[in-house]
Amino acid sequence: MSVIKYFLIVVHWMCASCLCEFFVDDFSSHAGNTSLWNELSDTVMEGGRSKAILVPHSTDKFQRAVLFTLLDPQSCGAAIAGIKKLVELDLTEYKDIQLRIRGRGQYRGYEFVIRHKNQFGPKLPSYVHFFEAPDDFETIILPISAFEAYLQGKPVENAAPLDKKNVTALGILAYGGVHVHRKQQGVGALEIDWIKIS
Ligand SMILES: *[C@@H]1O[C@H](CO)[C@@H](O)[C@H](O)[C@H]1NC(C)=O
Ligand SMILES: *[C@@H]1O[C@H](CO)[C@@H](O)[C@H](O)[C@H]1NC(C)=O
Repeated sequence: MSVIKYFLIVVHWMCASCLCEFFVDDFSSHAGNTSLWNELSDTVMEGGRSKAILVPHSTDKFQRAVLFTLLDPQSCGAAIAGIKKLVELDLTEYKDIQLRIRGRGQYRGYEFVIRHKNQFGPKLPSYVHFFEAPDDFETIILPISAFEAYLQGKPVENAAPLDKKNVTALGILAYGGVHVHRKQQGVGALEIDWIKIS
């Protein structure tokens, strides 16, 4: 068998063995639903004062969603403002989270968060990938293998690996940066065309 033929068969097999990609939400079409995302801000904790809301933004020319956040850090610098969506996903066949976004306002630093096995609450780790929102619309690619366990803003050593088979929540958060070099506060707007898994 020629090498090219063999290559084509392998590529065909790879594409047939998975769904290749799907939208978590496509806000640029009617397939996206902002109501399925709930606020996840530090107001769930004592002393928290931040705020977030995801709203649809549509004109006769386009539609998308905007995540508005207000980061109001406590004296220690802790602040979180964002949204989460409950899901039931098996991501074993997938590699990346993709976001088509643009950032406005006072900061560009966000984190994408994955939770697994119905483990919620501040005492259990989240799997986190930090990202920078671009000034103009771009597709940001976050490899699922690069997500790391974090607890209240700090990396967790020896955490169990993310169970890709049993993903139960996805989130997008703006952070105050209590344990990282970058400090952020004030008002931000993250414009989102879509969130895809591929
Ligand atoms: C969006 O989700 C909400 C909450 O589940 C639901 O009530 C509403 O019907 C959904 N809208 C569309 C257009 O699917
Ligand atoms: C996901 O994890 C939860 C908690 O351990 C468990 O109850 C549930 O059955 C798991 N779901 C799948 C699809 O494995």
